[in-house]
Amino acid sequence: MTADGLISEVRTAEELWGSEVSLEKLEGKVVKKNQHELENQLVVVAGGAGEIGEWITRMFLQQGARVLVPSRSKEKLKALGTSAKSISNGELIPVETDIGTLQGLKAMTAAMEKEGDLRAAVSVIGSFWQGPSCMQVPVDEVRQVIQGSFLPYVSLTQALIPALGAGNHFIKLNGILSLHAVPHVSALGVTAAAQLAWTRFLIAEATESSPWITELVIDSFVRTRSLQTLPKEYISGDDIAQEILRIVTRENAHQIVTIGKGPGDAKVEVVPLPSQVSENNMKRLFGSFKAKG
Ligand SMILES: NC(=O)c1ccc[n+]([C@@H]2O[C@H](COP(=O)([O-])OP(=O)(O)OC[C@H]3O[C@@H](n4cnc5c(N)ncnc54)[C@H](OP(=O)(O)O)[C@@H]3O)[C@@H](O)[C@H]2O)c1
Repeated sequence: MTADGLISEVRTAEELWGSEVSLEKLEGKVVKKNQHELENQLVVVAGGAGEIGEWITRMFLQQGARVLVPSRSKEKLKALGTSAKSISNGELIPVETDIGTLQGLKAMTAAMEKEGDLRAAVSVIGSFWQGPSCMQVPVDEVRQVIQGSFLPYVSLTQALIPALGAGNHFIKLNGILSLHAVPHVSALGVTAAAQLAWTRFLIAEATESSPWITELVIDSFVRTRSLQTLPKEYISGDDIAQEILRIVTRENAHQIVTIGKGPGDAKVEVVPLPSQVSENNMKRLFGSFKAKG
């Protein structure tokens, strides 16, 4: 990057965060001063008591953060507490609540507000569905999957994103079914695609006071506690947690990327999602808006 390029990048960051915030340069990127420090900072991991969530929670604790984890299950929170016992840093804040309901979401928000400013939030909520083909699945079943997994993501973003100021990070995990169809998982795939589309709209509507928004679409199986038998070449929960740490401490951009690793891959691959609409198509669309007046 040229000196001019760096100056204009610094100006943009100053405009965004205000001149009272000092900036540092890390690996050629302009970052907020102390962006790499998570000690004592408040982080929310929604789904943090789940398979991948456990690793994300552990990573933030290792960084010394105060990690608020909502879960519907007392047992899962207890198991998470046991797993976190070996980590001497940070503080785990378990909140037994169902964030899939408005009341449960309010309980999480109240617990969060009691703890102070929010530095980062991760959504790692997800569930599985497999069923009859598109022609045979009852419409009510599709509705239930969308209601159970898409709408909770919408209300979760409405609770978390305003609580995160400019320069902070919101990260959402998703699966490859959000991008690719395979037989007999239609309701799950449609829900995952709707979540991805929602993230796209969040990014499209982001303002200068919005946090940086990232969607990580996982494109392989993940080695977690219940998938220990998966060959070591596969991406692990900890690999994903380390990528989240890198984004929160070293990235300042809105992005939708795929992440994965499997046999034959030398390292974790993080690949930006190409735009699905060509520049020419976009020009035509905006041209037609203009023509319509
Ligand atoms: N594991 C993999 O191999 C893999 C591969 C590719 C993509 N992914 C993606 O990664 C994400 C997490 O996967 P995971 O394997 O960690 O799943 P998981 O162990 O089932 O954890 C998901 C968490 O989501 C929460 N959750 C689910 N539905 C909810 C609802 N309606 N309301 C509130 N909370 C809800 C659960 O919280 P409670 O604690 O309240 O039960 C659970 O802890 C998913 O988006 C999945 O598609 C996973």
